[in-house]
Amino acid sequence: MALKITVIGTGYLGATHAAAMAELGFEVLGLDVVPEKIEMLQRGEVPMYEPGLEELLRKHVAGIEGSSGRLRFTMDFAEAAAFGDVHFVCVNTPQKHGEYACDMSYVDAAFASLAPHLTGPALVVGKSTVPVGSADRLARTLTELAPAGEEVELAWNPEFLREGFAVQDTLHPDRIVAGIRSERAEKLLREVYATPLSEGTPFVVTDFPTAELVKTAANSFLATKISFINAMAEVCEAGGGDVVKLAEAIGHDDRIGKKFLRAGIGFGGGCLPKDIRAFMARAGELGADQALTFLREIDSINMRRRGQMVEMTREALGGSSFLGKRIAVLGATFKPDSDDVRDSPALNVAGQIHLQGGQVTVYDPKGMENARRLFPTLGYAETAVDAVRGAHAVLHLTEWREFRELDPAALGEVATDRVVLDGRNALDPAVWRAAGWTYRAMGRPTA
Ligand code: UGA
Repeated sequence: MALKITVIGTGYLGATHAAAMAELGFEVLGLDVVPEKIEMLQRGEVPMYEPGLEELLRKHVAGIEGSSGRLRFTMDFAEAAAFGDVHFVCVNTPQKHGEYACDMSYVDAAFASLAPHLTGPALVVGKSTVPVGSADRLARTLTELAPAGEEVELAWNPEFLREGFAVQDTLHPDRIVAGIRSERAEKLLREVYATPLSEGTPFVVTDFPTAELVKTAANSFLATKISFINAMAEVCEAGGGDVVKLAEAIGHDDRIGKKFLRAGIGFGGGCLPKDIRAFMARAGELGADQALTFLREIDSINMRRRGQMVEMTREALGGSSFLGKRIAVLGATFKPDSDDVRDSPALNVAGQIHLQGGQVTVYDPKGMENARRLFPTLGYAETAVDAVRGAHAVLHLTEWREFRELDPAALGEVATDRVVLDGRNALDPAVWRAAGWTYRAMGRPTA
């Protein structure tokens, strides 16, 4: 009989995982403790913007016309425990307030709520990003709290999905990492992932600590790549080079590669920033802090970018204050194809300029609602053109396709001054200049 799967936590990771598991043919029960989320999901609505996710959900949520009916939702841990053979834990692990460390309270609560209802054999699979050592501790919690005792096992199976590509990354992952302690656990995970495995996805079997570390190591490496190129952008500013050309040239060396070398205002979001900080905090607890002190530098290079963007704007406006200046900000989300504004560099820059007296008007294709909630005192416009109307400078801070397709000539008609600052190195300088704009990007003083 086909495995039955539960997914605990229906945020970004969980909602996508649940829909993907239903797509792979399993009966799935998603669980969350937030009633509004469950109500939305039951109607086939996704609580965030993620391309393709709503379609996938509607294809499977029970009660929606024409759906497979394989995906249902609940708030009841007893129901989830009775239903599932495999329970995926997909809850959030944010940064602790006022500390670098990771807040494990949602993970701990999920395990504490599920375990007492596990009366038969089950595999619990952790997907959340956690500090190394957590899986070992959680495995003990399970054996202690589950009535089925040793029949309940843990596996650690980190997730590498990117926002904006979540569905694709979940259905066709580039690797599956399985931290396991028994053949039974490996067999069950291979059964869950039979479809991607049959497509040739590598399956990497590890112990618990390695599985946990793979995730934080991967995100740290990505953060390091971005801060490396942003450091080069700083040097290009000082020495008169062009960081985009530099990235292109070093990227031809396939040991280095072209990807994740886009210089700009740096990384943000709910993962990279908090993951490198939690990694440093955990290394400190383990007495290995020296190994990761470089991540402190990665973090500072990244955070510095936001201030540098503000200063570049000030300079473009004449070098003194922002008072009386109207600034259009294109982009509020931390990356395109997402409505996520968590630790968004774009919104941070917009906020800094606003707090220094600039009149900032923000437009984002999908992030307006979240941006307004987080930063209600900023100005917002319904379209890019409305944001640019009357502006003394236009800041391109999230590289949405919509912004690359704007007509600089038409925008020039409504702007007060034709000054565009590209914080993502994604606009075509030639096109903007041809329309009479002064174009300036980060790390390209000569371009
Ligand atoms: C990241 C990882 O890429 C995923 O593999 C991982 O699963 C996920 O975190 C997670 O831990 O859940 P995500 O946060 O969606 O995914 O975003 P990324 O695509 O990694 O981008 C992060 C930030 O880096 C964005 O603000 C983006 O604008 C910035 N970035 C990216 C650059 O500034 N330059 C680049 O070259 C690439």
